[in-house]
Amino acid sequence: MSRKNRSEVANEEVEDRYEEYLMPIWKSLNVPIERASGCVLEDFEGNEYLDVFSGISVTNVGHGNDAVVEAAKNQLDELVHSCSYVHPHQQAGRLAERLAEVTPGDLKKSFFCNSGTEAVEGAVKLARKYTGSKEVIALEMGFHGRTLGSLALTGNHSYKHEMGPTMNDATHAPAPYRYRSEYRDLSDEEFAERTAATIEHVIGTHTSDDVAAIVVEPIMGEGGIVVPPAGWLEQVQEIAHDHDALLVVDEVQTGYGRTGKLFASEHADVTPDILTQAKGIANGLPLGAFTASERVADAFESGDHLSTFGGNPVACAASLATIDELQNGIVDDAASKGTWLSERLAELESEFGVVGDTRGRGLMHGVELVDPAETGPRGVAAAPDAELAASVAKTLRERGIIMGVGGYYKNVMRFQPPLTISRNQLERTVSALREALREESTDE
Ligand SMILES: Cc1ncc(COP(=O)(O)O)c(C=O)c1O
Repeated sequence: MSRKNRSEVANEEVEDRYEEYLMPIWKSLNVPIERASGCVLEDFEGNEYLDVFSGISVTNVGHGNDAVVEAAKNQLDELVHSCSYVHPHQQAGRLAERLAEVTPGDLKKSFFCNSGTEAVEGAVKLARKYTGSKEVIALEMGFHGRTLGSLALTGNHSYKHEMGPTMNDATHAPAPYRYRSEYRDLSDEEFAERTAATIEHVIGTHTSDDVAAIVVEPIMGEGGIVVPPAGWLEQVQEIAHDHDALLVVDEVQTGYGRTGKLFASEHADVTPDILTQAKGIANGLPLGAFTASERVADAFESGDHLSTFGGNPVACAASLATIDELQNGIVDDAASKGTWLSERLAELESEFGVVGDTRGRGLMHGVELVDPAETGPRGVAAAPDAELAASVAKTLRERGIIMGVGGYYKNVMRFQPPLTISRNQLERTVSALREALREESTDE
């Protein structure tokens, strides 16, 4: 890493400017970053941190990935902006063609935007246009973004504060969250059937059966790395189709190798009717997309949707290079590192009473922290311990490891590192987490 600018700026100075001039919503992990490379972040005072969160699951092929940076730089010299929908350019066409190849089944035509939230809202518009219906079903505890439409689908009041009313006609069904479910003791097959059936019930009781889409995450990220049982997504799609609605699979967080396949839908026997993407799509350059089969996509007519920056040439060039990198072994590697990680985290579950549950796929894992002495919501398992999660994250940060905290109850430690993380770096992270949990247990 180059050392230029070091010592001219202190961490505090950067934070002071934020304090003074940015709207006061930025304080969470509190680590100013001057530069990053691979899985390592560096602050303005030269301290290094191992990044186990990837800027919220974005830099899947590693910070500053050479191939991605080179592709973006080359494109900067050529064309920075054209508005893809006014002046067709090479990179948007190339990327759309590539997405047709790499997304599941007959998904073929894409719309490019700038973020996950826009991808979700665009997908809902397309589903409404295609079906002629209006209502949308999403999941309790799910997250789909923060603009008023996507916020309506987000099943968590803490993101909504007092921001309503949001989009009309969004209804929520229970999430396939086994740890606190009344059906938790059922087999996978029965649990999948029961939780999918609740969606049918919600359509029957909360809608006028004019459903355009059921929108779900194949693994819930912000909700606390909730992994549905095998067979669940297939049944959800069947329910959608029974009601002439589309299944929108929101892969903003799970896409681009995160779960050990390029898209998490590939773990199931499902081709989503519309697939939303963002985050890892361009390894940090702002880009979002939704992709549908030709039949569905062609419901959109000229003027139905647009984005000034969507499909920006530099972001598209970076995305093409990102996909090349992912397909060059990184996704397969993530799958095997994920299997190793699952086993190590399961050990923590048997070692510590405060580790209520560990779950995940590929390099998307969660460790749910609880207070085993207290009864939790719905009278099941143990109480969520958000305070413990915050304290563990702080301890890890002080030891040079950045790990996210999330979950509906804000008590889930999130492992979502760049997929290029080495086995040694993963081992270091698990050891540091074990150490922090041990210290917290002896503090009591
Ligand atoms: C599943 C999912 N959908 C949508 C979004 C919104 O994405 P963005 O923050 O890029 O708007 C997120 C962000 O965390 C997400 O996890």
